[in-house]
Amino acid sequence: MTRRLVVEAPAKINLHLAVGPIRSDGYHALESVFHAIDLCDTLVVETAGAFSFRCGSDLGIAEEDNIVTRTAHVMAETFDREPNVRIELVKRIPHGAGLGGGSSDAAATILALACLWGVSADDARCREVATAIGADVPFFLVGGAALMGGRGDELLESLPALSSPLVVVKPGVSVSTPAAYRRFDEAPVSPESSAAICTALRSGDSAAVGASLFNNMESAVSELVPEIAAVVSRLSVLPGILGARMSGSGSAVFAICENESVAREAASRESARGNWAVATSLRASGIQIVEGVNL
Ligand code: C5P
Repeated sequence: MTRRLVVEAPAKINLHLAVGPIRSDGYHALESVFHAIDLCDTLVVETAGAFSFRCGSDLGIAEEDNIVTRTAHVMAETFDREPNVRIELVKRIPHGAGLGGGSSDAAATILALACLWGVSADDARCREVATAIGADVPFFLVGGAALMGGRGDELLESLPALSSPLVVVKPGVSVSTPAAYRRFDEAPVSPESSAAICTALRSGDSAAVGASLFNNMESAVSELVPEIAAVVSRLSVLPGILGARMSGSGSAVFAICENESVAREAASRESARGNWAVATSLRASGIQIVEGVNL
């Protein structure tokens, strides 16, 4: 019998990203409020005689280097199982955007294999695999909204999620995460406290969330991709926009909107300028198995 799971892998934005000093392991200490959004990749995972991976879009890297393939093999080693699954990835989250697409795909792979192998997703080994694959991966196992610390991989506090409309815009140029951090290190900007954004989320106040957005990498990364600062400025002055910031290490920019039509209008303006743009919304859950069938 073949078992098939369909898993939604949402993107994230960082409502607050406060990057601190470099640690002894080369990573930066940081504090960040992550929020899942309703822009999702889909993974279809089926039991099979051997491992295989397929993606409709060109990911631009060798199959064995893909984060889904790497994650499946680390899961197999950790749980002493064969990674005998066929995985098909439908990619919608743009790459090099600071939206955590690859990290979410990795978390979805962990969840799907854990489910197929009868392992609880709360098993500490799943979290260990997530941390080993990348700093953003553990957040997606938690989902919704969360304050993360450490390298971005330690859950400090789960926060209440919002469902506000959102526009996400990615300039034509992608940003490599290590390059963004290197640029930041050349002229670091001091981190700020996440207290205001956490309070705004706890009170469910989207206007206060919009007014408290913070990202101390934005000016450094805007030097690499000036269009980032230009998008933030254009979105910030539109009526009905509650706040706009770069997500993670860029190059995507998001803006929290008063209503869906503001988000749609902003997305169509930015698409008309040649940028990738989508109207979506904040989302209360992280990765999710949306279908499980025996074939
Ligand atoms: O963990 P991940 O593979 O997503 O990180 C990619 C790169 O981003 C790291 O190799 C590092 O250069 C940088 N990074 C960092 N500090 C963090 C997270 C990422 O310097 N907290």
